[in-house]
Amino acid sequence: MATAAVTTRSERYPAVLIVLHWTMAVLILVTIPIGWRMGDLEPGPLQDALYHLHRSIGVTVLALAVLRLAARKIAGAPPPHPSLAPWQRTLSVAVHHLLYVLFFVVPILGWAGTSAFGAPIIVWGLFELPPILPKNEPLSEILLGAHGLFASTLAGLVILHVAGALYHALIRRDGVMQRMLPARTG
Ligand code: HEM
Ligand code: HEM
Repeated sequence: MATAAVTTRSERYPAVLIVLHWTMAVLILVTIPIGWRMGDLEPGPLQDALYHLHRSIGVTVLALAVLRLAARKIAGAPPPHPSLAPWQRTLSVAVHHLLYVLFFVVPILGWAGTSAFGAPIIVWGLFELPPILPKNEPLSEILLGAHGLFASTLAGLVILHVAGALYHALIRRDGVMQRMLPARTG
């Protein structure tokens, strides 16, 4: 496994992880509010479209999570920023690990719950994802309930994570934010 020969204070995340970070952040920040609202709408074309959009975004998040995990193993991630106090280091590493776990748990529960409900999962109108469970409505309720619960946990962790990032960017101004931003040339 490749390790960086030189560790600098401002060591950035590899470009592939920066691209995946911001792409997944946008997708997750879009799909959570859709998830919260879509069930309250009148049944009809708008509701159907939002369900399809929510599932397509969710499946894309799952696919990108696989890529991201692989990219992290291959390209590596910088060690925690040296300005972090030990408790901040422990907290941020724990939050990052939990976020990675939820990148898989949340969409897989959505996929399993939708399969058990018996609804098709048509990804971006292009292809249908095979069901991973037979139809079983009571089980689907449990799985989608767990899906919603873990999605709320994800939302809570994202708030904590963004608060931490903004604290470093705006108050501490210690270069933590720069590690996840594209490198400036010149
Ligand atoms: C849904 C939204 C977001 C998710 C799920 C998310 C997730 C993550 C994860 C898992 C990491 C660990 C790095 C990795 O190995 O990939 C990370 C790092 C980072 N994120 Fe986010 N992020 C989100 C939004 C944001 C936003 C809005 C900001 C800025 C305001 C931000 C700033 C950062 C920074 C600066 C790092 C690097 C921290 C370090 O140096 O260790 N993130 N993010
Ligand atoms: C990271 C990806 C995903 C996130 C963040 C997410 C988030 C959410 C949220 C916040 C809700 C609302 C829960 C509630 O109101 O209690 C929800 C509902 C739902 N999600 Fe997802 N979701 C994701 C992926 C998926 C996937 C991949 C599928 C299916 C293939 C899916 C299917 C559903 C369904 C069917 C509901 C409605 C549940 C109900 O009405 O009881 N989601 N999702």
